[in-house]
Amino acid sequence: MDKDKIIVALDVSTIKEAERLVDILSPHISVFKVGMELFYSCGPKAIDLIKKRDKDIFLDLKFHDIPNTVKNSAKAVTRFGVFMFNVHAQGGADMMKAALEGAEEESNRLGIDRPRILGVTILTSIESSEENVLNLASLTKESGIDGVVASPQEAKAIRKALGEDFLIVTPGIRPEGSEKGDQKRTATPREALDAGADYIVIGRPITKAKDPVKVIEGIQIS
Ligand code: C5P
Repeated sequence: MDKDKIIVALDVSTIKEAERLVDILSPHISVFKVGMELFYSCGPKAIDLIKKRDKDIFLDLKFHDIPNTVKNSAKAVTRFGVFMFNVHAQGGADMMKAALEGAEEESNRLGIDRPRILGVTILTSIESSEENVLNLASLTKESGIDGVVASPQEAKAIRKALGEDFLIVTPGIRPEGSEKGDQKRTATPREALDAGADYIVIGRPITKAKDPVKVIEGIQIS
């Protein structure tokens, strides 16, 4: 398995720090995640710095609002040319459909690829039942969006219930020997991929490491 399945979460608050990490990691990583911390600190400049290096972006802003607002926000992030963005599945089917409509309309208008849209089931920092996560994952699929963000511990059940044609992205990944921090439902990279994840999101174990490249090289996923 190749390291293209690793998405690095750039949870920093300055362009300087983001740039440092992207420069170090670009030879090894294809997709970078821009979340609330970096986006609310630096705005679209954070997107530009990644695009300049021809890397893909997962914009993790977890929309959760009325359908009309989400539709127009989906249009706005589609204009950034991101590869993927997400919404909270708990925002409901109408909201998820609105996100899809917005992304579809705007990407058609611009003649670009439509971003993949993921529904966040339950945050990996919260304890939850598998049933709860599965219900939200089903609602996500019924709404027509492309997949879910879920804990690695539920990936297997989601894959089994919802089939192959559905993206599963799992944060809460901890390579062997790294600190759990505030994440509760964690797994190693290998475990998450074996459970059916298409992409794994890793933040602090890489970004806070003295030698981030060494951590990536040490991840056993093939
Ligand atoms: O540092 P760490 O590896 O815990 O980072 C995980 C990243 O995944 C964070 O950026 C966090 O916001 C994000 N995330 C998560 N749980 C979700 C969705 C996103 O931990 N359900």
